Amino acid sequence: MKILYNLEELEIAKNEYKQGGIAFVPTMGALHAGHLSLINKANSVADKVIVSIFVNPLQFGPNEDFTKYPRNIDKDLALLRNKKVDYLFYPSFTKDELLKIKQVSAEPKLADILCGKFRKGHFDGVATIVNYFFELIEPNYAVFGEKDYQQLKIIEAMVNNLSLNVKILAAPILREASGLAMSSRNVYLNQSSRLKADEIYKNLNSMSEEISKILAGGIERNKKIQRIIDSYKEKFINSGFELDYLEYHWSRILIAARIDGVRLIDNMPA
Ligand code: PAJ
Repeated sequence: MKILYNLEELEIAKNEYKQGGIAFVPTMGALHAGHLSLINKANSVADKVIVSIFVNPLQFGPNEDFTKYPRNIDKDLALLRNKKVDYLFYPSFTKDELLKIKQVSAEPKLADILCGKFRKGHFDGVATIVNYFFELIEPNYAVFGEKDYQQLKIIEAMVNNLSLNVKILAAPILREASGLAMSSRNVYLNQSSRLKADEIYKNLNSMSEEISKILAGGIERNKKIQRIIDSYKEKFINSGFELDYLEYHWSRILIAARIDGVRLIDNMPA
């Protein structure tokens, strides 16, 4: 695996990989098996794979966890060296530098709902860095996890709106044995909040079953789905979660919930 620290090194690598085609896996590091599953997917579609690790300041709000976001490059390198990864792009752009690149607005219809309501500007920051990395790397494919389902939808829309020449692939959510969706932010959870977090998956599963029955029935679907959602909102709140949202979009239930100050997101088809 070659580590590319800057644009000059990336440019040299590009001459090597441009012929055969390359799949790109953007990450913010603190890698876990969920990220590694995206690398498997990337390897299944292209000869060469490039991973990026960059904690993007543009996508963190002023009161969010940019400075304390988990960073563990030595462990990340060990994990990546165990996989077939041809290049790691590991740049060190500053926020000031990034404010000078082309700023991309996320499609408002997609960015103003769910996480976008609670994290103003977040998806513009994501769209801007992903578009920049697409411009620099010129990948044939890019792989995104369904864990961040709204992000996936926003990237798909951006590629479409800007007519970018990259094919977006989606990878399913990888979970712990308990059902908790893997996330770099799970390290913020203590033992008791981790146990509580497991309820997210359990509740999503039972909601999904209940909603599937309603969809089979046909009449007054939306009203009935809303009723189920409302009853689970109460359930989550009663067991001590602070809910940012619990909603149904794209035939999925999506949730963002805080447990002891840690914000977790998850989603499930229904
Ligand atoms: P990050 O949170 O590091 O996630 C990188 C990629 O891994 C995303 O596509 C995310 O959906 C995927 N991922 C995370 N947890 C997963 C899981 N449990 N199962 C499957 N996939 C999972 O998402 C970002 O970084 C950033 O916003 C980024 C796209 C890199 C732009 O800065």
